[in-house]
Amino acid sequence: MKIDMYSYAENFIVEDEALVNARSRGAEVGAQDVSVGTGSFLRHLAHTISAQSVVEVGTGAGVGSIWILRGMIESGTLTSIDDEAEHANIARTAFAEAGIAPARFRLITNPMMEVLGKLTDRAYDLVVLRHDPEDLSFSIEQAHRILRSGGVLVIDAFFGDGKVPDPAQRDARTIALREAGKNIRLDSSQWISTLINVGDGLLLATKL
Ligand SMILES: C[S@@+](CC[C@H](N)C(=O)[O-])C[C@H]1O[C@@H](n2cnc3c(N)ncnc32)[C@H](O)[C@@H]1O
Repeated sequence: MKIDMYSYAENFIVEDEALVNARSRGAEVGAQDVSVGTGSFLRHLAHTISAQSVVEVGTGAGVGSIWILRGMIESGTLTSIDDEAEHANIARTAFAEAGIAPARFRLITNPMMEVLGKLTDRAYDLVVLRHDPEDLSFSIEQAHRILRSGGVLVIDAFFGDGKVPDPAQRDARTIALREAGKNIRLDSSQWISTLINVGDGLLLATKL
């Protein structure tokens, strides 16, 4: 019998009703939320680094946001950016259902290209990126500026629907992901990085 270790790990932690409901609202509007394994990993990471200030690009239906908020310290705040007003609205509903106080998050409805540059230098413990890969060089540079030393950058869906590891795939999004990964990996004076097989791939980079 072949045991599917990937599915076992993805579903090791079970989502509660608030997350299940948020996920189903997200599926209705095509928000592409994080996988269960990715969500539980983000909660774990936020807890491990005692995250107080986190930036997330790509609120979606709020699934990833709830996981992150549940790992952060209780007084911590999440700044979550999404250019779709509809996504921000359903995320707000999800946060209320999950019992998250409004003081713990700020939802910004704008393209991240117009927002990240306005955030404060070295003020954040964790930055999670989940946007179109073509703009990654901008967001990675901004993430490095706004993270404190020892803060962590996460790029979600780094396998790009499984295409990045396949050299035959050469579309613009896949190439952009490969380039972003290469730049971070080679930039060992600024980042210490690793790529893990959770969800559709998570690139982790800690700011040196
Ligand atoms: C996984 S992303 C969507 C992915 C993207 N549309 C794609 O196909 O690669 C999840 C969320 O990020 C938001 N998003 C994508 N690009 C964005 C950007 N440049 N600025 C702000 N939000 C963005 C989407 O609205 C969505 O709610």
